[in-house]
Amino acid sequence: MKPAIIIGSDHAAYPLKEKVKAYLIETAKIEVTDAGTHSEASVDYPDFGMAVAKAVSEKKFERAILLCGTGLGMSMVANRFDHVRAALCSDVFSAKMSRLHNDANILVLGGRVIGDVLAIAIVKTWLETPFEGGRHQARLDKFDII
Ligand code: RB5
Repeated sequence: MKPAIIIGSDHAAYPLKEKVKAYLIETAKIEVTDAGTHSEASVDYPDFGMAVAKAVSEKKFERAILLCGTGLGMSMVANRFDHVRAALCSDVFSAKMSRLHNDANILVLGGRVIGDVLAIAIVKTWLETPFEGGRHQARLDKFDII
């Protein structure tokens, strides 16, 4: 059973969110909770980033995807929450490493940075790559000292 995903974006990445959501539901067969936004009308990305990151922080969802224009604002918001390891990825290698070494539980994408085909390749890799654990877990444990 694949884990459910919660997804959220602002208006700048709304079109890419819809593409990613369709891939998750139709191709990857993953249950998706869409936290919005639901149109290209201007909104504030922290409102959506906070809702999604809170759900991961409170362990209501194991994994999430956040999108904004650059992915930067959503990353900054999400990484303020306990237990969140949000990774902004614009290439497949970083997506793979964010799972293998960082156990990233939120993938962040920039809707004005990457195209649909690359975004889907990044999402696919991120979903399918496991965490390596071992020495990397020991490093993640140090996050809790902060
Ligand atoms: C919205 O204009 C834009 O600032 C937002 O999508 C994001 O890129 C912020 O980091």
